Amino acid sequence: MKQRLSQILFSQGFGTRRLCAGLVWNDEVTVNGQPVDDPDAEFETTGLRFTVSRQEWPYFDKALILLHKPAGYECSQKPKHHPSVMSLLPAPLRERGVQPIGRLDEDTTGLLLLTDDGALIHKLTSPKHHVPKVYEARCKHPLTAAMVEQLLAGVELREPEGKFQRPPEITQADGAEIVDETLLRLTLIEGKYHQVKRMVAAVGNRVEALHRPQFGALTLPADLPPGGWRWVSSPAEVWGD
Ligand code: URA
Repeated sequence: MKQRLSQILFSQGFGTRRLCAGLVWNDEVTVNGQPVDDPDAEFETTGLRFTVSRQEWPYFDKALILLHKPAGYECSQKPKHHPSVMSLLPAPLRERGVQPIGRLDEDTTGLLLLTDDGALIHKLTSPKHHVPKVYEARCKHPLTAAMVEQLLAGVELREPEGKFQRPPEITQADGAEIVDETLLRLTLIEGKYHQVKRMVAAVGNRVEALHRPQFGALTLPADLPPGGWRWVSSPAEVWGD
């Protein structure tokens, strides 16, 4: 589909239409390698690449971002004790309303997806769609085959002490394996609050460090450092299609 350049920049998070037109008038923008000084010039958006102030951007109708979440960042939009994961992303991504797909705890590291596509957030967080998330939990005590069996059969999740006690929920792991004496690899379809920590606690162990190397068919790239991010070119990469 063809769109005016000021509209393209606006949709990609570069500020109001007026500010976007200003960027073009001020010779800050190139499209597919060519300088453009007319904000009303029209371009086909599919596969379009542009630069703003010499930084290159691909056009995406909806943004899908893979972030290597470091420890010490909160997934909440209004963080209480630590900076938000959003502060790790450039301003245009924040401006266009990208937000985390599900949450990782402040001390959890690993693969976090973010998007400005509300329908995709719903799809990827709903257990109905069976998107597996893989976690590696470093546990305090040695793991046993009995613990793994219990996790696969289903455990009762209780609210943390002192919290309002809802009726216990039964939750099952979709996969559980012992990697080494204290490292557990757990695959979950749901994404309940503190789910891994509460499941491990329910079998009498304790999570000391938690990492998510995989979300659906996407794995954390080995060369992406903590705090680094990448575009995901299509949600199909998450489904593994
Ligand atoms: N389960 C947890 O307990 N914490 C996370 O961050 C993710 C899953």
